[in-house]
Amino acid sequence: MQQEIDGLKVEFEQEIANVDSEKSLEALRVRYLGRKGILAGLFKQLGAASKEDKPLLGKSIHGLQKLVQETLDAKNAEIALSGDELTPAGFDPSLPGRLPWRGNRHVLAAALDDVIAIFHGMGFSVADGPEVELDFYNFQSLNFPDDHPSRDLQDTFYVDNDVLLRTHTSPVQVRYMENNPPPVRIIVPGRVYRNEAIDASHAAEFHQMEGLYVDKSVTLGDLKTTLSHFAREYFGPAAKLRFRPHFFPFTEPSAEADMTCFICGGKGCRVCGNTGWIEILGAGMVHPNVFSSAGYNPEEVTGFAFGFGIERIAMLKYGIEDIRLFLENDTRFLSQF
Ligand code: PHE
Repeated sequence: MQQEIDGLKVEFEQEIANVDSEKSLEALRVRYLGRKGILAGLFKQLGAASKEDKPLLGKSIHGLQKLVQETLDAKNAEIALSGDELTPAGFDPSLPGRLPWRGNRHVLAAALDDVIAIFHGMGFSVADGPEVELDFYNFQSLNFPDDHPSRDLQDTFYVDNDVLLRTHTSPVQVRYMENNPPPVRIIVPGRVYRNEAIDASHAAEFHQMEGLYVDKSVTLGDLKTTLSHFAREYFGPAAKLRFRPHFFPFTEPSAEADMTCFICGGKGCRVCGNTGWIEILGAGMVHPNVFSSAGYNPEEVTGFAFGFGIERIAMLKYGIEDIRLFLENDTRFLSQF
């Protein structure tokens, strides 16, 4: 019986080491000290022991009882202090609550929504295409000669000879026309990539909005009216656009459009380089070769296309001075919108 008592002592010490809550502590107490517990059983056995053994065995059992009792009490105090789930010490219900964090739309997503809504109002619908693009759609089908400088490795992230990260949203023009007969009236918001040195106004990935309108007799006048309407809707009634001749391989004639400077209102300041104008987009009449690559008959349709940077117009509208802020996700910046 002495052996049994020694064994129980070892067992108890192992079990108490595993106790980590008030609940398991109580279970252990009942198992050892309860009315039908282990110690009660030992005392019962003691009654049947021989006269000579009784005093020593009795002492052992009492010793075990005392050890169990004291260890349980110590463990109980320890659990209460550590803030066990049932006695959460350190919880003060009188403290004021914390305000939940409130999110808001990313300024870029909000600008996109605004722009899309304006073009929806003019009957454009949204189309999209892949960001990992074939050289054919990004360049060839858009009438880029093989040796055109923007195919240079410096500007384009190539995956391999034929595959690249699209450098603009214009490839979706051809992709869309291949699959849909005229008339076409689409806008294409999307991410584009350029292998550029990053600074306050250049990022290696940014967003563009492409526009394409093709029908039987679309004119340059339609292009100007559409974009001027967009500028007034997005920037306010005072916004004016001016068109300058430019060159793009996939439009003829081509133009770049400037908007009256949002800072000085056209008087000339640091932001607009004293010109009173800020460049915001590229545009033009779709080149006949682009219609041919897409399977349209250039004798039957005309169209205009335009493209602008979404970060760019959001920067102008909100006076944001660094394009990198759009990607950094600093909540001090984002929560202002
Ligand atoms: N894709 C041109 C760019 O990225 C913009 C553009 C689009 C110009 C459509 C003309 C027509 O700069």
